[in-house]
Amino acid sequence: MMLKIPEVLSDAEVRHIRQLLDQTLWEDGRVTAGHQAINVKSNLQLPLESPIARDLGGIILDRLSRTPLFIAAALPLRVLPPRFNRYEGGGTYGNHVDNALFRVPGTDAYLRTDISCTLFLNDPDEYEGGELIVEDSYGDHRVKLPAGDMVIYPGTSHHRVTPVTKGVRLASFFWTQSLVPSEVQRRTLFELDSAIQHLTADHPDHISIAPLTGVYHNLLRQWSIT
Ligand code: NI
Repeated sequence: MMLKIPEVLSDAEVRHIRQLLDQTLWEDGRVTAGHQAINVKSNLQLPLESPIARDLGGIILDRLSRTPLFIAAALPLRVLPPRFNRYEGGGTYGNHVDNALFRVPGTDAYLRTDISCTLFLNDPDEYEGGELIVEDSYGDHRVKLPAGDMVIYPGTSHHRVTPVTKGVRLASFFWTQSLVPSEVQRRTLFELDSAIQHLTADHPDHISIAPLTGVYHNLLRQWSIT
């Protein structure tokens, strides 16, 4: 399931993050590319150990923890510290699948990349190209969102970023390990949760709300892995 999550960051938060990103040093994105990706990746990234990346990542994680749509759709167990990238002058990232596992910084634990996340940090009219294209069995999905909006999509997806031919494209990207590893099960829970939310909004006293909520939790109990 691909899902757009609007307004993860406010305009003020985007401005603050961009001010800091404008003052910092970037490095070649190939330093973190896997064997498959290294030949197709041409962009800049903030060094992973950069204090600015850590601080800005903290802001994003804090906002995500208060974004109900992200929590309902991703059912996050753990989120890897956000990373930051910059594409300009024809920068691009060819078709690839993200690494399945990343070590959680400062620990021996690994995070499984069930869900890939891209948070846009500037507006579509500030650059040309730079579309995120995610492939699934229904074809190509092209994504280019306003600053502060995010898209999530399955970590199993083939995806790419088209060349940025004018201007600069800034984004944060990161991965989430879900309590529910199965994409199909996660989507089923999200659809059930959304239906319960709508029913509750329209008919708060409906007799079916409690049993449906019970079904949701009993499915989550069966399908979640902690
Ligand atoms: Ni990727």
